Amino acid sequence: METVVVIVGAGPAGLSTSVCLNQQSIPNVILEKEDIYASLWKKRAYDRLKLHLAKEFCELPFMPHDRDVPTFMPKDLFVNYLDTYVARFNINPRYNRTVKFSTFDESNNKWRVEAENTVTGETEVYWSEFLVVATGENGEGNIPLVEGIDTFPGEIVHSSVYKSGRDFKGKNVLVVGGGNSGMEISFDLCNFGANSAVLSRTPRHVLTKELVRFGMSLLKYVSVTMVDTMVMTISRLVYGDLSKYGLFRPKQGPFATKLYTGKAPVIDVGTVQKIRDGEIQVINCGIGSIKGKTLTFENGLKQDFDAIVFATGYKSSVCNWLENYEFVMKKDGFPKNPMPKHWKGENNLYCTGFSRKGIAGAAEDAMSVADDIKSILATIK
Ligand SMILES: Cc1cc2nc3c(=O)[nH]c(=O)nc-3n(C[C@H](O)[C@H](O)[C@H](O)COP(=O)(O)OP(=O)(O)OC[C@H]3O[C@@H](n4cnc5c(N)ncnc54)[C@H](O)[C@@H]3O)c2cc1C
Ligand SMILES: *[C@@H]1O[C@H](CO)[C@@H](O)[C@H](O)[C@H]1NC(C)=O
Repeated sequence: METVVVIVGAGPAGLSTSVCLNQQSIPNVILEKEDIYASLWKKRAYDRLKLHLAKEFCELPFMPHDRDVPTFMPKDLFVNYLDTYVARFNINPRYNRTVKFSTFDESNNKWRVEAENTVTGETEVYWSEFLVVATGENGEGNIPLVEGIDTFPGEIVHSSVYKSGRDFKGKNVLVVGGGNSGMEISFDLCNFGANSAVLSRTPRHVLTKELVRFGMSLLKYVSVTMVDTMVMTISRLVYGDLSKYGLFRPKQGPFATKLYTGKAPVIDVGTVQKIRDGEIQVINCGIGSIKGKTLTFENGLKQDFDAIVFATGYKSSVCNWLENYEFVMKKDGFPKNPMPKHWKGENNLYCTGFSRKGIAGAAEDAMSVADDIKSILATIK
């Protein structure tokens, strides 16, 4: 099959790219490996998830959120919003198509995209002038190699498949990773009556969601240093010194950290209070080894667990299927070019949704990419 633009991935980034292209009447096809759009939100997110960012920072192009939806939308409301988006703009991804291989064919200057139709098992070949990578920053769950992990008799899950603490009542559960997912999952486990411990090795900022919203809104008017100073002062007033509980603050401010490294602050959903109350234990060092139920930590501490949840983040999976990824990406599957033109690669290769700016970032990328493709097509015609 031949088209002008092939988009790989029907998450918020791929969907908005398609909508922006449609607005310019540029033919495009979305290939999606799952049987549904926005699979991260529909299939891979835990039950109690709410958007971490205020709704005004989570909009797709051409469709603002309704006034009456809550500022911090629960997952279901955001999924409704996506459903409306897909219906309103009549987006029709080709589902059950896993892109396995893709390459730039120099003989005709076109992209060749091979997708496995997971229903029929056949390989389909798509040709296009432009290729947009929209497979997401969270392409696959990252589980670190730990010595002896294969001897662990209990359940081991990645945060992307964790749904709720319901099944862990009364169990000793270790959550590895003190980022947003890890902190929220340990809270959820605790609420369902599990004994949870969270392993958090690196210093992190912990903020309330209101404080993050305040900071994000302020960033439009004052410097990041000033925002950080204000936000950190308020955060100290709210939380006090948490180091005695094992939570340490980094020196660099939360918004500067986000800006320069992409690493987000932890948005507290109630975990901090449980840590103070001694209901959630914080472990500050890595796992040295595992032998059966017993984990030995790098500081010599030994403790038994019934289950482990790895909230150790994700990796981009682009380099697994895109032969010429170096036209737009580095080896780690993130853009090689600096912002704000990180989305543009060579030979009509683009990426959307890799700016570490969440949904708002994906939406911006989509608009930029569609405009760029439009201008290239205009010069050809
Ligand atoms: C737990 C969690 C909470 C988050 N909360 C927020 C928040 O509050 N606000 C915010 O702005 N952001 C949040 N994010 C970030 C969020 O991931 C993005 O904002 C958004 O989902 C990114 O959209 P995307 O389209 O780039 O990627 P994704 O949503 O990951 O979509 C990528 C799509 O590509 C498909 N795909 C992958 N590989 C292939 C292949 N080889 N062939 C075909 N299809 C493929 C996938 O199945 C998927 O449907 C959160 C992320 C997580 C994990
Ligand atoms: C995708 O595959 C699932 C089964 O895995 C099937 O139920 C669904 O109908 C398929 N969708 C399409 C559009 O082919």
